[in-house]
Amino acid sequence: MTPTLFSATWIDACAQAINHNEAYRRAAANWRWPLLMHITHDHAQTTMIYLDLYQGSCRAARLATSADLTHAEFILEAREPIWRKVLTGQLDPIAGIMRRQLTLTKGSLTTLAMHGATAKALIAAISQPNLADTSVSPAPVQSVQTAVPHHTFVTTSRHGLDNDSVPMRLWQKAKRLGVWNPADIDFAQDIADWQNLNATERDLLLRLTGMFVAGEESVTLDLLPLIMTIAREGRLEEEMFLTTFLWEEAKHVDFFANGFLKHIAPDAGDLTHYHTPAYRTLFYDELPQAMHALLSDSSPAAQARASVTYNMIVEGVLAETGYEAYFAALERNNLMPGVRQGILLLKRDESRHIAYGVYLLSRLIAADPQLWPVIEQRMNQLMPLAMQIITEIFSAYDDMPFGLQFEEFSTIAMTNFGRRMQRIEKARDQLVDADIDDEDA
Ligand SMILES: [Fe+2]
Ligand SMILES: [Fe+2]
Repeated sequence: MTPTLFSATWIDACAQAINHNEAYRRAAANWRWPLLMHITHDHAQTTMIYLDLYQGSCRAARLATSADLTHAEFILEAREPIWRKVLTGQLDPIAGIMRRQLTLTKGSLTTLAMHGATAKALIAAISQPNLADTSVSPAPVQSVQTAVPHHTFVTTSRHGLDNDSVPMRLWQKAKRLGVWNPADIDFAQDIADWQNLNATERDLLLRLTGMFVAGEESVTLDLLPLIMTIAREGRLEEEMFLTTFLWEEAKHVDFFANGFLKHIAPDAGDLTHYHTPAYRTLFYDELPQAMHALLSDSSPAAQARASVTYNMIVEGVLAETGYEAYFAALERNNLMPGVRQGILLLKRDESRHIAYGVYLLSRLIAADPQLWPVIEQRMNQLMPLAMQIITEIFSAYDDMPFGLQFEEFSTIAMTNFGRRMQRIEKARDQLVDADIDDEDA
């Protein structure tokens, strides 16, 4: 069966066709710029496709994330019928730009014109008759629309806010417990303690801080697409809680950047070298891709993939375990009371975030039990990566400072992960009410 035009399957097939096309490989030897196809469908829906084309090969092809808008050197926009003409060889893309049927919204027209042969070879590679079913309607993704009219409001309906719901109970907790100010923490004893640490101990604390602060920065930057998705679905109670969620992530950035790094280790310099390969894969690529994919595909499956990545892996495995280790290292040695105070408050915020993730995934799986394989596959993909990040921290030291043991923390990570997975799996049969009074809130 031929794939539907512009679908994820079609995009994969295009990448394969490009990489198996000898004529394209020769024609595109000097082309080294990623390209983004922006397709406007009827009803203001859009599909954006990112092709990383480099010297005759296609290094990546996917439904574009918002980050891809930055990476793409060229962005070509046109209505869907025009793209169909281009992709079936009926319209030369350069001619289409000249006739204003296609718009070059980013990139140099001169460069594009100089590589006319590359464009022709590209179209020839992906316009094979068996590559796409051009007769059916495109894009089985739910794309972001420009406007969603309101038909009713929760607060003026007969039911009003559902104050017994998990998100509203988390909202009440966030208002009571989440309002703490990192600037109120006294770091005087911490500064004195730092002076007495040896080089290895300082290195470990800087390593953990460099991973935590960038991790908090990335979760702050990457949460908005989920909030937008929830808002578009009219889930007011969830959005109310998510406003505290985003603010708290920003506050965690504040704690590390303006607390630890400013007061305790002001000479730390660039900490990027502490970002190990597995850390980079998760925080530089997987997390932003999973979250920003919601901008072009807000389906339940995409929401599940995003929540597993953000709530279950980044928060539920790495942040929770990492903060546990950080706190234990300092407490067992009676060091840095200010940092410990901040970490305790921060852990309490994080437990509400994870509780929301358990609720969200439970709600999604209760509505469609077929989503379980999606959740399981994403977990299976990312769990080894998360464990690899913990391994990379420990393997950086011959003698781990502060008496920290790998087994202790890998056990915490696996136990918490397993417990939450069991709770989400139960929701396949019925929506279980996440118990927000236990350790997850
Ligand atoms: Fe956080
Ligand atoms: Fe969080």
